Amino acid sequence: MYLQPIKIGSLHISGNIFAAPMAGYTDCVTRHISCNNGAFLAYTEMISSEALLRNNSRTLSMLKKFNGEKILAVQLYGSKPDTLGRAAIIAAENGADLIDLNAGCPVRKVTRKGSGAALGRDVRKLGLAIRAMVKAGLPVSVKIRSGWDETELNWREAVQAVVQEGVSAIGFHPRTCRQGYGGKADWKALGTMSAAAPVPVIGSGDLDSPSAVLRMLKETSCSGVMIARGAIGYPEIFSRTCRLLKEGIPELPQTPEDRLRNAKNHLLMAVETFGEKTAAKNMKKILVAYVRGWPSASKLRNDLMKTSDISTLMTLLDRVILE
Ligand SMILES: Cc1cc2nc3c(=O)[nH]c(=O)nc-3n(C[C@H](O)[C@H](O)[C@H](O)COP(=O)(O)O)c2cc1C
Repeated sequence: MYLQPIKIGSLHISGNIFAAPMAGYTDCVTRHISCNNGAFLAYTEMISSEALLRNNSRTLSMLKKFNGEKILAVQLYGSKPDTLGRAAIIAAENGADLIDLNAGCPVRKVTRKGSGAALGRDVRKLGLAIRAMVKAGLPVSVKIRSGWDETELNWREAVQAVVQEGVSAIGFHPRTCRQGYGGKADWKALGTMSAAAPVPVIGSGDLDSPSAVLRMLKETSCSGVMIARGAIGYPEIFSRTCRLLKEGIPELPQTPEDRLRNAKNHLLMAVETFGEKTAAKNMKKILVAYVRGWPSASKLRNDLMKTSDISTLMTLLDRVILE
C-alpha cells in the first residue's frame, strides 16, 4: 500500500523509494549499490551548471552512468536561469532522464553565489530557472527547503512558482537553510505540502531506518521518499524498507559480517571504477560509516583515516571482524 509506482512527468518509476543526492557520496558507485539494494532511483550529487558549460572534464564525468543505470537523475545547481537551462540540455545530451534543481543546499560557498538555498529564497528567479530547464524537454523536479530561516518560511510561494513553470515533482527537505542538517525535519509541513501540491512530493529528512520511512509515508501522505544520511554505510536500508512496506517484515539487526562484506564490496567497486588513489581518498569517510557503532569503531576510524593504501584499508576491515 505504501510502496507504489510513481510518475514524474513522462517518467514511470516502478517504486517510490529513492536515494537522495549527497555531494561527496552519491557517485556512480554508490548509486549502483543503492539501486542493487532496491532504490528505484538514485540522484547524482549536485553538479555545477557553470562548470558543465565550461566543459570541465571532472564535472562531465559526474554525469557518467553506472552499468545498467535505468534512470539517470541529474541534480544541477547554479544561480542563473539561462545557465541552468543550457546545463539541462547538456545533461539531456549526456543521457539524463530526469533533471533535478538544487534549491536547498545550505553550504555557504554555494549560497554566497546565489545558488542552492539562496536560489530557493528568490522565488521569482527559481521560477525562471524551472522555465529555462523544462525547455530541455525532460521532466524537471526541484528540491527545496522550508525556507531561509524561521522568519522566512517561503515554501508555499516556492511551490506555486515552480508548479506554474511546469515542474514535474518537488523534493521537500523541511528544514530551513539556517538549520542546516540539525534539529528535526518538520514533517507537518511536508504533510501540508503533500496534500496541496498538484505534483508528486518526495519527502526528505530524518529517514534513518525503514520504520522511519514507513512513518513518513503514513503521517505525511507524501508520494515518495529519498533516503540520505540513513543510507551512508547502510545500503541495505533500501531492501529492508521495501520488505517492510511490502510484506511487513520488521528490520533485523545487521550482522557485523553483512556490514563488513558490504564495506569491502563498496571499496572494491570504487577501486575498479575510479582507481586506487581516488577510491582511497573518497572511501575513508564511507568505510567509517559502515563500521559505525562497533565496539572498536573509534580506533578503527582513526586507523582508516590515517591510511591511503587500499590493501591496508582492506586489512583493517578484516581485522575488525576477527577481534
Ligand atoms: C553530506 C551531505 C551531502 C548532501 N548533498 C546534497 C546535494 O548534493 N543535493 C541535495 O539536494 N541535498 C544534499 N544533501 C541533503 C540530503 O539530500 C537530505 O535532504 C538531507 O540530508 C536530509 O535528510 P536526512 O535527515 O535523512 O539525512 C546532503 C546531505 C548531506 C548530509
